[in-house]
This record gives sequence, structure tokens and C-alpha cells, in this order.
Amino acid sequence: MTDETSTKPSATSSMWGGRFQSGPSAVMEAINASVDIDQRMAEQDIAGSIAHAEMLGATGIISSEDAAAIQRGLEQVREEIRAGGFSWSKALEDVHMNVEARLKEIIGEPAGRLHTARSRNDQVATDFRLWLRDACDRIDMALAAYQSALVAQAERHADQVMPGFTHLQTAQPVSLGHHLLSYVEAAERDRGRFRDARARLNEAPLGCAALAGTAFPIDRERTAKSLGFDRPMTNSLDAVSARDFALEVLSAAAICAVNLSRFAEEIVLWCTRRFGFASLSDAWSTGSSIMPQKRNPDAAELVRAKPGRIIGSLTGLLTVVKGLPLAYSKDLQEDKAPTFQAVDDLELALAAMAGMAADLSFNPDALELAAGEAYSDATDLADWLVRELGKPFRDAHHIAGSIVKAAEARDIPLAELSLAEMQAVEKEIDESVFSVLSARASMNSRISLGGTAPVRVREQVARWSNHLGL
Ligand code: ARG
Repeated sequence: MTDETSTKPSATSSMWGGRFQSGPSAVMEAINASVDIDQRMAEQDIAGSIAHAEMLGATGIISSEDAAAIQRGLEQVREEIRAGGFSWSKALEDVHMNVEARLKEIIGEPAGRLHTARSRNDQVATDFRLWLRDACDRIDMALAAYQSALVAQAERHADQVMPGFTHLQTAQPVSLGHHLLSYVEAAERDRGRFRDARARLNEAPLGCAALAGTAFPIDRERTAKSLGFDRPMTNSLDAVSARDFALEVLSAAAICAVNLSRFAEEIVLWCTRRFGFASLSDAWSTGSSIMPQKRNPDAAELVRAKPGRIIGSLTGLLTVVKGLPLAYSKDLQEDKAPTFQAVDDLELALAAMAGMAADLSFNPDALELAAGEAYSDATDLADWLVRELGKPFRDAHHIAGSIVKAAEARDIPLAELSLAEMQAVEKEIDESVFSVLSARASMNSRISLGGTAPVRVREQVARWSNHLGL
């Protein structure tokens, strides 16, 4: 890039160039301009300006004719932007000045009255809050769609037994439906975090002006209400400098992405030949350019990777805001790129997870076989010793461990040991012990609240279906 300084007076900003004699250097313009990024807030910017102009007219700060002209002009600008024909100018720095400059071309002199009792500092904070409010609402819907796909699968597979793992070692048999519903729970907490963030961010900075408020008799309740904010913010310095609202949304996004990555990882594992628990259709698989036999779960791998980007966005914005003195500093312009990026990443990840959750088809035989392996019913044997023989659990654990050792020595499941072999370890054991020794019996027995028994899982499916309006 060449760094040419323009000395033409016309090259100074018509918005703030009154005391300037020459225009910015090309690099100055490049580092200063944010329009490539903040043009995504055009809808919010225009909504904010319409509300502000309406209030200026209603309070008599500007004439009602000027207010009406501004409103009509802004509607036309909005149409032009929606139609895609708008020409954005870097020389005009940001979305705010691009919109206002176009308004001036359309309506002339009254356009200059729009910025009365306002600054870009309260304007950008307003736009950004409105944008994030919409983003929270979209993410909530996307999370609900993801939950719905999981609940539908859980309903289908409430009775399907599979191995539950701890340390990724076979632990106890569980219902596949139960496993899937665990991600519905996590997604509900994610929704709660976005809801909380949305509730806290829904306050209006508009009217706080540059940092100190304004001498004009504005009506901030009126603009706050017309933009759907719960109330105006009550400290002008805070209103223009706070960005913790974006940090909260990014934190929620980071946690949500981490939650998604855990299921994504399981999809990757389940679709391997080693596990063989599930497969994805062609719509959610990719091939290898060298190995003709390959089916790769790329989308799941990419969701697994998304926390890298989203946590990066959170860390990036935390670092930008850290140590900034009050009130507005231009550093704060660097808030939007990471935030938009994180929201885009999360929305794509959620769409992919909802798609894969619906698409997964499961292999009942592989799940059932694996559920019965590796002495996954050993706890059921110990529990039987407690229940039927009155053993203390610690003793029962020890006895069951010895019986597992005997079965292991012969490389057979517990249920294939003879009664005599069991009685050699504990003489009081009788024939009825065999009724608890299977993966399915184990799963069916866990009827405690929150447990994996299919009766409990179906109750939870019904609760979620009701909650999600399915
Ligand atoms: N583009 C700016 C931003 O995103 C708008 C606010 C500019 N304010 C200023 N005093 N230069 O932060």
C-alpha cells in the first residue's frame, strides 16, 4: 500500500473535518475504517436513527417536518442496502457515517440534524446491543432445533442398550436415548446462558452521547422503548464504554461450542470401524481423494475444532477491553470482528450438529454387543450381593471382583460362569443371581431419578417434547 497524504480540503471528512486541513494518509484510512465489518449492523443502525429522529421531532428538538424527512430518507437507505446496491465507502469510515452521508444525498440539509444530541459512541453501542440481541434470539432457535433432533432420536432409541463409559473404558450399560438426552440438558443450559446475556444487554445506551450525556431535552425512555430495550442505561460513561455484554455472549458461545465439541467427538468415535456404533449418510460424510474406501465425518471434526476459533474470539475481545480507561476509546472498534466471527462460527456449528443429530443411524447389534462386554454387569452382581445376601457394599464389591477375575481367567462373561464357580467364591450365591447378569437387565434396573432405565428415559423424552413443543 502506498501511503499518500491528500492535501485537498475536500478529502477531509465532511462529518468531522472542520478543523482539519488535509485528509488522512492511506494507511490512516485503512487502520481507521471499520465499514467492511460494521456494515453488518446497517439494519440496527437505521432502526436506532429512526427512533432517535422520531424522538427529536416529538420533543421539538428538531421540527416534525425534518424528523419525517429523515425517517423517510432512512427508509430509502434501508431499501437500497437490502437490495444490495449500496456503495460502501471506506473514506466514510463506518456504517454510521456511510448511512448518514447517503441520507444527506437523498434529503439534503435536514440530514445534518439527525446527529443532534447523539454521538457515534452511543450510536455504536446501541447498534451492537441490538445486533447481539438478534443473535441471541437466532442462537436460541438453533439450540432448540438441535435439541429437537436429539429428542426425536432419543425417543426412537429409549430402549437401545449401549455401553456407558467412564475414562472411555466400558463402565455400565446405558440407554442410547439417555445418552442423547444428556446433550439436550447441556443445550438447555446453553440456552439459559444466552437468555441471561440477552436480558442483561437489553438496555439502551442511546442518548448518552459522546460520554457525558447531552444538554438537549431528549426523551431516552421513548427511544429505549421504541427499540425494544427494557430501559435506558443510567450512567453515560458506562453506556458508551461497557462491552461486557459482548463478552457475556462470547462466553456463552465458547461454553456452547465446547459442549457441542464433546458430542462431535463422540460422533467421530462412533463412526469409526473400531466402535461401529453409528454412521452418517452421504449428506454428512466426505470422501478421501486418495483412499476410495474412506467416509470421513468432517463436519463433526470441524465442530470439534470450533472452540479453537470461538475461545479465540472471546480471548481476543477480553484482551482488547482489558485495562481500557473510561470512556470510549477507538480500541473498542475491534469488538465487532471477533464477535461476528464467533456468532457465525457458532451458528454454523449448531446447524451442523442439528443436521448430524437427525442424520445419525445407529447399529443396534454393535451397541448391544459392546454393552455386554468388559464385565459391564459387575456392579449389578455387587448390588445383588448387597440386596439379596445383605452384604455391606464394600464386601460385595470385593466378592464381585473375585468372580470377575474367575470369569476373566476363562475369558467368558459373568453369565456364563456356572453357579458352582460363583459359589466357590461366595457360597450363599444362588440361581437367581443370573437374572441381573445382562446388559439389558442392568440398564432396565436403573430406575432412580435421572437414571438410565428406559421407563425414566421415556418420561424425560415426554418432558422435553412438551417443553420444546414437539
Ligand atoms: N466505528 C466506531 C466503532 O465501531 C464508531 C464509534 C466511533 N467513535 C469515535 N469517537 N470515533 O467503535
